Amino acid sequence: MAAPRDIQLGDVMAALREDHRNFAVLLELVTEEATAARQGRDPDFELLADIMHYMSGYSDAIHHPAENRVYELLAHSRAEDALGLGRVEADHRELTAMTREFRNLCDAGKSGAALLRKRFVDMADAYVERLVEHMAWEEQELFPRADRLVLESVEVAVVAANDPVFGPKPEATFDRLLERLREEVDWR
Ligand SMILES: [Fe+2]
Ligand SMILES: [Fe+2]
Repeated sequence: MAAPRDIQLGDVMAALREDHRNFAVLLELVTEEATAARQGRDPDFELLADIMHYMSGYSDAIHHPAENRVYELLAHSRAEDALGLGRVEADHRELTAMTREFRNLCDAGKSGAALLRKRFVDMADAYVERLVEHMAWEEQELFPRADRLVLESVEVAVVAANDPVFGPKPEATFDRLLERLREEVDWR
């Protein structure tokens, strides 16, 4: 993985917000597949596995660590900026565990394993709900605090990795997802 480098906080915040918009698109797709399963249709596990591999490889490995760097800045800023930050680490840890568990289930579905439909639907719903809640909290409570520091031209050391799905050079391993995004979503 690339080494961290100093990036202007304003650019980091713009990237984090763009990530959230992209994640919301993917969570829509997960919700659609859960709805299909609830209606008795087979979910597209190839698509779901792509989504969950992206979430573990990009969201958990790049997005959350970048946020952690920003929150460290807040923790050392004004006392009111540090409020509630103690929850972030547990949230990120929980999300990483949920991502891994749901990714494994989608991988099993992709390789043709017999899965209980209810187990898939419950896990998909719980994952979407938890991540939506986490992102809303960050956008409403935490990101605005960081915006204030942007005015002070702070830099933050983050790994600026290529986004393998939404970046300029999508990776072929995410073919099924890229195809679905081109079909259904007006994203580029
Ligand atoms: Fe986060
Ligand atoms: Fe986030």
